[in-house]
Order: sequence, then C-alpha cells, then structure tokens
Amino acid sequence: MQICYTKDELRVALADLRRSGDIGLVPTMGHLHAGHMALVSKARSDTTHVVASIFVNPIQFGSQEDLVNYPRTLEHDLDMLRAAGVALVFVPNTQTMFHEEAQTIIETTALSTMLMGSLRPGHFKGVATIVMKLFNLFQPDRAYFGEKDYQQLAVIRTMVRDLDVPVDIVSVATVREPDGLAMSSRNSRLSKPSRAAAAILFHACKMGETMAHEGATADEISRQIFEVISENPLADVQSVDVRHADTLEEYEGLITAPAVILLAVRFDPVLLIDQYVIKQKQD
Ligand code: PAJ
Repeated sequence: MQICYTKDELRVALADLRRSGDIGLVPTMGHLHAGHMALVSKARSDTTHVVASIFVNPIQFGSQEDLVNYPRTLEHDLDMLRAAGVALVFVPNTQTMFHEEAQTIIETTALSTMLMGSLRPGHFKGVATIVMKLFNLFQPDRAYFGEKDYQQLAVIRTMVRDLDVPVDIVSVATVREPDGLAMSSRNSRLSKPSRAAAAILFHACKMGETMAHEGATADEISRQIFEVISENPLADVQSVDVRHADTLEEYEGLITAPAVILLAVRFDPVLLIDQYVIKQKQD
C-alpha cells in the first residue's frame, strides 16, 4: 500500500494506478472502525483500485477544542487499510491541503443550513469544500459515503449534481454495534452508563418505522421518538426529524415517499447522531 503525503506524490501514484483499472475513493478522518471498513469492502467489490484519504479537516469543526481532541490513530488506521487491500492512502497535513490564502468555499445553500446544519453552523460548507477538493485531487470513478451521516451524503450528492462533478456517489448502510448503536469514533467518549443508554436511539428509530407502517404522520412519529428517548435522564434530545429521504424536506401530512429519521442526541457532552431510512412495509 502506497502512502502519499503531498499532492504531487498523489498525482504520480494515481496516474500509475489508473493505467490498470478504475478508482474508488473512501474519504475519512481516520480513527477507523468497522463502519469505515464497510465502505472499503463495498469499494473493493466494485472497483479495481481502492484508494483512501485520512485528513482531520479543520474547516468542518465548529470549535478548536473538538478539532484538537479528535482522536488520531494513524498507524492503526494504516494497518487496517493495508489489511483490507487498499492500494493507496493520502495523508496530507493542513498546510499541504489548503493554500494559505484560500478563500473559495462550496455551499449547498438550503441543505447546509437545515437540521444538523443549524446545530453546527458552517459544518457542511467545510465538508462540501474538502470533499470537492478530494474529488479534484483524486478524480475517482466512484466515491463511497456512509448513510450514518445522512445529511452529509445528501449534501455531497447535491453538490455533484449541481456542479456536474464526474463521480458516482455510492452510499453504504450504517454499521451498528450488537445493541444497535451506530458505530462512531465518538462512542469511545461516552461514559459507561451513557454508552448503555445510547442503544435507545436505534430502538426509537425502529419504533418510528413501525409507526410509519401503521400510517402515523411524520409529526406524530417525531414527537413519540422524542418522548421515548427523553425518558432517559442521561439523554438530552437536540432534534428528531422525519424527512423526505432524497431532499430532506418536511412532509405535509402523511408520509408518501421514502422517509428518513434523523436524530441528534447529547449524552454527557457527546453529541450522537443517527439516521434511519424507513423501509417499505413488507406485506
Ligand atoms: P468520518 O467521520 O471519518 O467518516 C468517513 C466515512 O465513514 C463517512 O462517509 C461516514 O458516513 C462513514 N461512516 C462512519 N461511521 C459509519 C458507520 N457506522 N457505518 C457506515 N459508514 C460509516 O465523514 C467524514 O469522516 C468527513 O466528514 C469526510 C467525508 C471525510 C470529509 O472530511
């Protein structure tokens, strides 16, 4: 597995790979777990060369503290990617990645300010901008993103559509712990009682799915989920939304098209997010 630290090294290595097949990109911020590795395996199954990036992107963090405290486990991450058959990893530092007078940003105007965007102002502009830079640097045939960060996925799909970016976006279902908690680098920061309590997020989503199948409205579902999670004194519910799966827009009345449940809940100081795409009712 080749490790590239500069944009020039990356260009040379990619040109070499491109001669013998197509390229699938898995962008990450490191501290890898089975969720990230599901993207790598999906990429392995449909692309000749799987390439990855590890970059803790400063422009998507709201506070300097969160950025500094973001877990960094580079050697472990490289071992995992190597074992999974990744051909190349790009590990730039901030100076390499950004021009010191950089002033261009990408913003999906409606999507980036709704939902998680209102809880984390500026976050999705930072994500869209770095992902666009990675697309320009790698020029991959396909790029892989998790449903776990559902709004991020919607932002990226919209950016690619609006700016005619020649890359196929492939989404991968959320990988969960045995008790249903979505895998996330944040889970390790939860206290023991909060970790145990956090399983309620998934169970509340399942309950929401059942309600949808029984004909409940988006409003009724989100109110019920809010109540069920709030019964736990450790949980501080920030938002519960049931939205159109494609546009993330609100429903007027009954749920008529594919829907997604989006949750943001604080346990201690840790903000957990989860998203659940409601499956069609099986008759
Ligand atoms: P990061 O949080 O490292 O996640 C990298 C990718 O892994 C994202 O597409 C995310 O949705 C996916 N992922 C994380 N946990 C997952 C899980 N439990 N199941 C399935 N997929 C999961 O998301 C980012 O980094 C950054 O915002 C990035 C896109 C790299 C831009 O900086």
